[in-house]
Amino acid sequence: MSDTPQVDFWRGAFGDAYTDRNALSGDALRARTAMWARVLEPVRSRPPASVLEVGANVGINLRALSGLLDADLYAVEPNAAARGRLSESGLVQPDHVFDATGDDLPLADGAVEMVFTSGVLIHVAPERLEATCREMHRVSSRLIACVEYFSVSPEERTYRDHSERLFKRDFGGFWWDLFPDLRLLDYGFFWRRATGLDDLTWWLFEKP
Ligand SMILES: C[S@@+](CC[C@H](N)C(=O)[O-])C[C@H]1O[C@@H](n2cnc3c(N)ncnc32)[C@H](O)[C@@H]1O
Repeated sequence: MSDTPQVDFWRGAFGDAYTDRNALSGDALRARTAMWARVLEPVRSRPPASVLEVGANVGINLRALSGLLDADLYAVEPNAAARGRLSESGLVQPDHVFDATGDDLPLADGAVEMVFTSGVLIHVAPERLEATCREMHRVSSRLIACVEYFSVSPEERTYRDHSERLFKRDFGGFWWDLFPDLRLLDYGFFWRRATGLDDLTWWLFEKP
């Protein structure tokens, strides 16, 4: 499958600069750890034993999850510099770090118990969003989570002075329209002023 201009943007200089800026600071890690503790509350008695992050960048979510779960971690990431940082970190086994995009995942059906995105579906070209969600659904054996910017109606917003690189919508509604048999375990909002996170809306679904 050929890359979209959106994926080229992340593979290239913009993605490299983002990766350079994306330090694993103590504050950032604490905020993500609190975020995942809340998102995974509904499955606290049966946490996922394997997790794939689609668009992991340097792995701040996976790092937070590693402090909460005893799980096999997998990462898909199109930016080479970010993949390098992830592999070197020792957090994810190098053969669990894949050069791929969400619409063409190099894993078998049901290969991991939870598949998620955080700040990634917003960057997917709208015409590839359905394929991305279908791939995540195919690879997950149980849970699907997403943490993204919300808008009631789909809208494009300028992203760091770039157009056609950020698309907000009701991603939970998108998931549920595509797979009406998903069970909604919980959803919510992380308000920036209280959490240090970026006004993020999240959903946790379970496959039937
Ligand atoms: C805004 S960053 C978010 C990084 C990380 N998920 C987090 O929450 O800190 C977006 C990441 O998604 C990756 N990405 C962009 N488009 C993607 C796609 N179609 N499939 C998978 N990853 C993608 C980018 O290379 C980048 O690392």
